[in-house]
Formats: sequence, C-alpha cells, structure tokens
Amino acid sequence: MAKQEDLFRNVISHAKEYGYIFASSEIYDGLSAVYDYGQNGAELKKNIRDYWWKSMVQLHQNIVGLDASILMHPTTWKASGHVDAFNDPLIDNKDSKKRYRADVLVEDHAEKIYQKAQKEIEKAKKRFGDAFDEEQFVATNDRVKRYLSERKEILERLGRSLTNEDLKDVKALIEELEIADPDTGSKNWTEVRQFNLMFGTKLGASAESASDLYLRPETAQGIFVNFSNVQKTGRMKIPFGIAQTGKAFRNEIVARQFIFRMREFEQMEMQYFVRPGEELKWYEHWKDIRLKWHLSLGLGEENYRFHDHDKLAHYANAAADIEFNYPFGFKELEGIHSRTDFDLKAHEEHSGKKLRFYDPELKENYVPYVIETSIGLDRMFLAVLSAALKEETLEDNSTRTVLKLPAILAPYKAAILPLVKKDGLPELAQDIFEELKWDFNIQYDEKDAIGRRYRRQDAAGTPLCITVDHDSLEDKSVTVRFRDSMEQKRVLITELSEIIAEEVDFKKWLKSE
Ligand code: GAP
Repeated sequence: MAKQEDLFRNVISHAKEYGYIFASSEIYDGLSAVYDYGQNGAELKKNIRDYWWKSMVQLHQNIVGLDASILMHPTTWKASGHVDAFNDPLIDNKDSKKRYRADVLVEDHAEKIYQKAQKEIEKAKKRFGDAFDEEQFVATNDRVKRYLSERKEILERLGRSLTNEDLKDVKALIEELEIADPDTGSKNWTEVRQFNLMFGTKLGASAESASDLYLRPETAQGIFVNFSNVQKTGRMKIPFGIAQTGKAFRNEIVARQFIFRMREFEQMEMQYFVRPGEELKWYEHWKDIRLKWHLSLGLGEENYRFHDHDKLAHYANAAADIEFNYPFGFKELEGIHSRTDFDLKAHEEHSGKKLRFYDPELKENYVPYVIETSIGLDRMFLAVLSAALKEETLEDNSTRTVLKLPAILAPYKAAILPLVKKDGLPELAQDIFEELKWDFNIQYDEKDAIGRRYRRQDAAGTPLCITVDHDSLEDKSVTVRFRDSMEQKRVLITELSEIIAEEVDFKKWLKSE
C-alpha cells in the first residue's frame, strides 16, 4: 500500500514538474478539487479527446458530433431528475469533523476484501506455476470463496439500501463493518444524509429579474434536448449516435484524489439511439467497443475490469463501469448505461414537444431507447499518466524516469536536438524543425549536454529524439533515439517525416486491438 501511495505522490509531483497539471489559482493557495492543465497537459488532454472523438465520429457513419452549451433551461434538470435526485449520501465523523461519501466508505471496505482474495490468488499462482488453474482455485479455495462472497453481500446490501433510500441501513452497514475514519481511525459517525451536487448560478442583470440556473452536471442532457434537431437536420436513421465532449460541474463532497474527482471536469459522452427492445444487444456491443478502445492504447489489459452495477439508477435497465487500476486501486473510469427511454420521455413531458422517430421499416413512431457511453477525460488523463510513469534501472545501474505515453497521445512527438550549440548544427536543426512542424508537434532543445536532454525528454514523454551532429552537415542524416527502447538509428533527414508518421498512425493504434 505504501508503495502505491508513493507512486501516486510521484505521479502528482511529476505532473507538476513537467508542466502537465497545476493546482488552480495556485498563487492563492489553490482551490479545492479544481486543477489547471499546463503546457504539456493541455496537449495530452487534447490528444486524448481527439483519439476519442475520431474513434466515435470519424469512424462511424451514423455518429455525429454536438457542442451544446453549459447553461441550459432550468426545466432540463427538473425533467432529468437532477433537481430531485442528483444526491450523494454523506456522513460526517463527529471527532475529526471530516465529511465522507457513505457509499464510498463501504465500497472501499469491499475493495480491501477483494484485494485480500487477489493476494491469495497471486500467492497460489506463484506456488503452482504453469499448472495453476485460476478458475478452479477461485471456485474451490475456502478463503477466497469467503472473501468474494463477503464482498458481494456488502455491495448488494449497499445497492439495496441506496435504491430504497434507506440511509439508516447504510449507517448500520458502516457500523457493522466497523469502518473507521480513514484519516483518524475514529468510528464516531453522524447519520447519513443526502446532498445535492449541482452548482447553482443566476442568469440576468438585476437581483429581482435574475432566474436560477445550474451549471450542467453532465453533458448528456444537451444531447437529449437536441435529439430532434440533429435527427431531422442530419436525416439520421435509427440506430444513430450523438457524441459530445465538454465541461461538467459537480459540488463533490469528497474530492481528495487529485484529478480523479474534481468539481469542474470534462466528459466525453455518446448517446446511441436504438429501437425499443434492442437496447441490451447494443449495450453489449458498446461495452465491447469501448473496452477495445482502451486496450488499443497498450496500458496493460490487466489494468481494466468491468464492474456491473448492483444499484441501477431509476432510468437504467443495465449499467457497467470500466474500472482502471489507478495507484489507489481499481476505480470507475467510464460508465456504459442502458438508459431506456427515460430521458427523452421526461423531456417530452416537461416541454410538451414530441421527441420521437418515425421508423420507416416498422412504420411506427416511437421514443428511442438510449445506450450511453460516458468517460471522464480527466480520469482518462490520470489513467494514462499513472500507467506511463516508470522508474527504470539501466544496464549501468543508473536510473531514469520515463513517461511511456502512447506516442499517439504524447504532447510532443519528437524533439530536435543539435549536439552542440555551434558549427552550424543549430541552423540545420532549425531547418528540420521548420519542415516537420507542419505535420507534427515538435520541440527544439539546445540547452545542456545531450545526455541530460535525452533524460528530460524521456521524463516529459517525448517518443523520439532527433540528434543533429557534425556528420549530419555532410551526409544529411541524423540519429533517431526511441524513448522506450533507447535504441538509436541513423536515418536520412528526408525519412524523418515517415518515421514519425508511423509512430503516431491513428489506424495502426486503434486497429491494434
Ligand atoms: N451522463 C452519465 C454520467 O454523467 P457518471 O457516472 O455520473 O455518468 C460519467 O459520470 C463519467 O464522468 C465517470 O465515469 C467519470 O469518468 C466522470 N466523472 C464523474 N464525476 C467526475 C468528477 N467529479 N471528476 C472527474 N470525473 C468525473
């Protein structure tokens, strides 16, 4: 655990040192759970967004994009259920005066039990070697069976209590499991209460005429209210999807995990409109596609798992999370939800406008069902950053810090480095920069010894270093050094563009799964 905490601390300090993430308004000591993306962070974030957008919109004839506003008519949030039910159950510790999400306390407890089972499995794997049959071991080992069923019972009971709004039982569960304040160990808890997460604001110039608005807590509702606009003007036929990326705001009660849980964050959501009755088929389809998207980035298959929801939201008939193995354990990265016709129907009722589709094959008018894929861009950023950050011991026993970002996401694709700052090398290096900059984000760096510059680029995550030396002036070739293998290759300057393009080829990356 200590090791994992260290890794998380390293990720946070590395993110700052290399211009990825800063605390918001840091000179005023920051603002809790709000962050700014620095010069490298802004690029990485944009590249993740593009990778998602292209995979959704460019690769699907029947998915189109949208950019809806953050401020929406307030009735939107009444219809969507957010005014009445967008709550988190919170609990205070009477001794430490700290506030927690009651469901998260229970879920973390259940995760610890799961980790105990995993430890037993790992031990057995080592003991039995190749002969190990994990499935059989899990089905027959008493200790593992006990841990897994204990975890299941806890999560099912939590799910039931939350669905039934039985907050007394959530408190009882916390007490029965003897869950203590993670910071102080105190078990002196208040009752569990509901807390609405939406940020309110005002529209209008004078206090009297101002009306109450909310900052959107999800981007999805912008898609629902534009369903007919897009369907009609785009002449879309079911099944079809609308994709959108943008900011969302939630007044999170507990926001202590860096960019994992923020008060202002960005979502990448896609609503896929389907025929009623076909939704579960499409739900499975999108679960599959989304997992493949994640795996294509090569961050390690073992770092992902599905978690089917025990507690379904009132509008859903199936829901699962893709969880990622963050430095603080497996946590939700993306949600895939079968939202039925709840949202469109609710907007029909509240607006009095029809939100239907005439299906020419069925010769029928209906309110479509919806499969939603919803991923937090910042959570994806954290997943990429924490999986990429490595401390390596080299053959000569020296160490290097390297950020093994997937090249397609890396802020800079290559750095051009003149070996020395004289003899015409900077001029040639600048010429190469001028040529490559039209197609790629390239950095030029001439400061410090070449070894230090390599290390700096490794730590910043640049996949390729291009070194211009004295021979380059004669033979028009340069040395390309690959970040991950540290292999060096002599190539012609005219070949550089093709080499970089190969490293960041979208088709190659996304098709790799
Ligand atoms: N439209 C569905 C929806 O908003 P959600 O599970 O509440 O569902 C979707 O959120 C995704 O948004 C999550 O899987 C997570 O990646 C991201 N997300 C939610 N709250 C967040 C927060 N406070 N900070 C960062 N990301 C968040």
